[in-house]
Amino acid sequence: MAELSDPPTRPRLLTGDQVTGRLHLGHLVGSLENRVASQETHECYLIIANVHALNSRTDDMQALRDDVIEMVIDELSVGIDPQKTTIFLQSEVPAISELTWFFASLLGYGRLMRNPTLKDELRVKNLGDNYPFAFLMYPVGQIADILAFRPDTVPVGEDNVPHVELTREIARRFNVMFCGVDPQAGDDAHCQQGVFPIPDAPVGRVARLVGLDGKHKMSKSLNNAIYLSDSPKQVKKKCGRIYTGRQSASDPGVIDGNALWELHDAFNSNPEELADLKNRYRDGKVGDGDCKQRLAEHINALLDPIRARRAELESDPKCVIDILRTGTSRANKVAEQTLQNAKAAMKFDFFPRDLMVP
Ligand code: TRP
Repeated sequence: MAELSDPPTRPRLLTGDQVTGRLHLGHLVGSLENRVASQETHECYLIIANVHALNSRTDDMQALRDDVIEMVIDELSVGIDPQKTTIFLQSEVPAISELTWFFASLLGYGRLMRNPTLKDELRVKNLGDNYPFAFLMYPVGQIADILAFRPDTVPVGEDNVPHVELTREIARRFNVMFCGVDPQAGDDAHCQQGVFPIPDAPVGRVARLVGLDGKHKMSKSLNNAIYLSDSPKQVKKKCGRIYTGRQSASDPGVIDGNALWELHDAFNSNPEELADLKNRYRDGKVGDGDCKQRLAEHINALLDPIRARRAELESDPKCVIDILRTGTSRANKVAEQTLQNAKAAMKFDFFPRDLMVP
């Protein structure tokens, strides 16, 4: 009988988050669920972007440090399995910083400033010209975060799509300039002849989850989020806060564009109940309070197993650091290889790197 052939190598996936604090339901439906499912189909890398966090938070480094651990706990608690996903710390992968400089040389200032996410952040946060230079560096750094791992796919939230688009441009430019890939070549040719593949950027099940204010995207900075680490009581209270704009329970209710129903759509796991509630809401036969209560129950049912895993992990902080260390070591092997390939293409390969420091 023929021998079983090697399992085909899986496509490679890279994603991650800037360290902002605890993760919330927007992260769950926008990306975390996807990450967990992808573990069965992809070779997965997950970056904990603590260097990017320096853009906006240098005031309390202990808090930033604590948030790194919190974030890893959040990831593990939703079902990221460190045996299947390489979770690593950005600040301990030096190849990323080196690649950042190389890519910065291929990226025009004008092109960078046309990045809509960057423009939005400057506007929304009212930064004027009062921001650290690192703020402009971070999209370039993100290109390096991504390309260091030569991934096929980079699932991200909607607001990160422009960064992946920029990544695709820079990967192409590098391959054309330094690897002799034809400027008209398709993505496959880049993959075969260039140092870098041209990754795609799929967006999660719910690209933009509305926050409790009923207006903005769920986000920590807007104080409108339900966190994975919230207690059942906190979830219930927060659901009670959802803004619907409805005056009284007997008013005919509006479903479209109503945060309460956007959240129900995302978290109610019982389609019949959902259809029935919506009908009664439209007819003014059920109050906001009852619908919010049902929503809280669904969210709590979803979060319960996550809470249980979180409690286990919190009781063993050393285990979390070990996971990060092992993942970072694995990540460095891939990223160093990429850096070597990139340097060879750039004719910077004068001699092999020897960093053995006594
Ligand atoms: N910018 C991402 C965020 O907003 C975090 C991030 C950093 C990232 N490097 C990345 C995401 C590489 C995907 C791939 O959270």
